[in-house]
Order: sequence, then C-alpha cells, then structure tokens
Amino acid sequence: MQTAESINQLYREAWSRFATGVTVITTFEPNRSVHGMTASSVTSVSLDPPLVLVVIGEERQSHGLIEATGRFGVSILDVGQAHIAKHFAIPPESRTSLESKHITTLSQSPVIQGAIASMDCSVIAGHKAGDHTVFIGEVEAIMIGDGVPLVWLERQFGGFLSQNLP
Ligand SMILES: Cc1cc2nc3c(=O)[nH]c(=O)nc-3n(C[C@H](O)[C@H](O)[C@H](O)COP(=O)(O)O)c2cc1C
Repeated sequence: MQTAESINQLYREAWSRFATGVTVITTFEPNRSVHGMTASSVTSVSLDPPLVLVVIGEERQSHGLIEATGRFGVSILDVGQAHIAKHFAIPPESRTSLESKHITTLSQSPVIQGAIASMDCSVIAGHKAGDHTVFIGEVEAIMIGDGVPLVWLERQFGGFLSQNLP
C-alpha cells in the first residue's frame, strides 16, 4: 500500500516525465503594470468556440489577478526564450525587472514579444480543483510568430529534436 507521502513524490516524478511546451500567462495589475507567470498546465479545449484552459495554483499572484480582471494572455515560448520562462517562474518579489522590449499587447491582454504564438482570452469559467483553479478562457485574438517551441521535461528547459519515428 502506497502512503500519501509516497504517492505525492511519485506523482511529481511521473509528471516530470511528461514533456510540455512552456507558456507565460499574463495579466494586468490594478495599476496596469504587466504581471506574468510561467505555466505548462495549459491545454486547448474547444475549437468552436475557441477555448483554452490554464491551471493556476491558488497561492499564485496570477490567480487573484485573473479573477479580478477576467482576462489573461497566453504566450507559447520560443526555444530562445528560456530566460523569460525562468524570470516568470520565481516569486514576483525575487524577480529583477524585465526589459520592456519583451512585452507587447494583443488586443486587451499583454503578451510576450517574440513568442511563437499568443492569445488574448476572456475568462468564461473557473473551476476549483484541489489547491488549483482551472480557468477556462475564450480566445478573442491570436498572434502567430516564427520559431520553434521551448520544451519542459524532467525539470529542465530544452528544445524539440524532430525525428522520423517508424
Ligand atoms: C516550466 C514551469 C511550468 C509551470 N507551470 C505552472 C502551472 O501550470 N500552474 C501554476 O500554478 N504554476 C506553474 N509554475 C510555477 C509558477 O510559474 C511560479 O510559481 C510563479 O512564481 C508564479 O508567479 P505568480 O505568483 O506571480 O503568479 C510553473 C513553473 C515552471 C518552471
């Protein structure tokens, strides 16, 4: 019988083996400054209407900002943007300032300049799930850029190596 403690450890280990892309979820703070957080629990949900979901820990500052503004931006990062992913993965109070050239606006949301794709989303639902909330956003604007995706696997950033598998 596995204990709750070992399940917790194995859960982390199992999911560290799941390769994902890397996004930054962006919102505005009440003073209109831009707030971001790195996120990999992001999925497309529906094509018609176009819906995405993001899973945000209740402790994250982004959680309250998304609730307050009812909007968020999603930026899918390029392999050359690991420094941006690292910047937005540490607690906001420990971050140094990020050069403004890395931020742009897509319709009503801030997004990351040079991302391989960005979306502006309006929150249509928030479902509490354990210590996280699943926010569902309707995509209202999309920007497509050039580049190749940044990948997160086994607690490391890397790139995708394309192979012709049989
Ligand atoms: C690759 C990576 C993916 C992450 N994905 C998520 C995620 O999907 N949801 C989440 O709540 N936190 C995630 N985090 C942790 C947040 O980025 C981190 O806690 C951040 O400091 C939260 O910022 P905030 O408090 O300003 O919102 C991830 C971290 C990394 C490095």
